[in-house]
Amino acid sequence: MSHVTLRSGSVMPLLGIGTWRVSEVQDVNNLIKNALEIGYRHIDCAAIYKNEKLIGSALKKSREDLNIDRKDLFITSKLWCTNFKKEHVRGACENTLKQLQLDYLDLYLIHWPVAFEHTGYDLEPGLPRDENNKIKFAKVTLQETWQAMEELVDSGLVKNIGVSNYSLPLLLDMMNYARIKPSVNQIEIHPYLNQNDLVKTLQEFDIHCTAYRPMAYGDASGAKLIEDPVIVELSNKYNCKPAQIVLSWNVSRGVSAVPKSLSRGHLEENFNSYKLQLTKEDVDKINTLNKNKRFTDPMKKLGHCQCLIKELI
Ligand SMILES: NC(=O)c1ccc[n+]([C@@H]2O[C@H](COP(=O)([O-])OP(=O)(O)OC[C@H]3O[C@@H](n4cnc5c(N)ncnc54)[C@H](OP(=O)(O)O)[C@@H]3O)[C@@H](O)[C@H]2O)c1
Repeated sequence: MSHVTLRSGSVMPLLGIGTWRVSEVQDVNNLIKNALEIGYRHIDCAAIYKNEKLIGSALKKSREDLNIDRKDLFITSKLWCTNFKKEHVRGACENTLKQLQLDYLDLYLIHWPVAFEHTGYDLEPGLPRDENNKIKFAKVTLQETWQAMEELVDSGLVKNIGVSNYSLPLLLDMMNYARIKPSVNQIEIHPYLNQNDLVKTLQEFDIHCTAYRPMAYGDASGAKLIEDPVIVELSNKYNCKPAQIVLSWNVSRGVSAVPKSLSRGHLEENFNSYKLQLTKEDVDKINTLNKNKRFTDPMKKLGHCQCLIKELI
């Protein structure tokens, strides 16, 4: 399986490329050029990565060189948390479209379910703080933001809308007020944080899950997932690279993934991993690696939920 059909009927490639922390012009140009040459058509962007302008230029050039139609690409971007008020959502989306040099996005996600004070569309700063270094939250509900996202679909700026980093309770609540239901929830997923229950439940609601941080990189102190003995053993069994086992485990469960790599060799490996067919026993074996280990935890930055609530009232 190489593609998934979203609830709107749009078709999304299961393997895309991540673009977080790619900021040098040459790196962006190489990433986009290599990815499109290899065959990737799904690119995961976000306004807060602050590289959409570079991606837009690289995409324009590579599309011209390779003669790729816009309709054959699947471009995702994300609404940053400082633009959650209804009067800022459209402006933020238009700014992203301008930077990416596109007329529409295939998918636009609410990046994190927490609203910060508006700081302008250039997102400086992305995490606004007061003079006491306390985060400046905004008084806006996620329902208001979602309704503004729905209007982006109505006006043709966006084909699909979804969320990122949403828990099940937030999504269940959303199903009560959403006129257009979310197509996707993009969350951290890898064998050390398999999120099996959330993935299965969302699949019942026809909400597709995309795995970010699929390689579980990010913990300098910890052992790498691709060096885990179970992953290495399976890569020997299937005569493939460990990263391909990890990505194929996602794809086999109908989960898409957006690994980031600056290496052409790794991009090729990752792209080809959908061809691998893991047995059910091997998928189950990988599931046993779960230890609910999260590498992206904004609550660490934001403080505990109680502090959050205290700041909002
Ligand atoms: N929605 C959100 O809140 C959110 C949060 C985090 C990330 N994301 C998205 O998810 C994307 C991926 O996450 P990430 O960039 O944090 O981490 P990741 O893709 O899990 O890991 C990136 C690391 O994996 C290495 N890698 C990739 N392919 C490899 C391979 N085949 N073999 C060995 N190493 C490989 C890369 O090194 P090399 O360059 O050497 O290959 C890089 O150091 C982001 O770029 C972003 O688009 C979204």
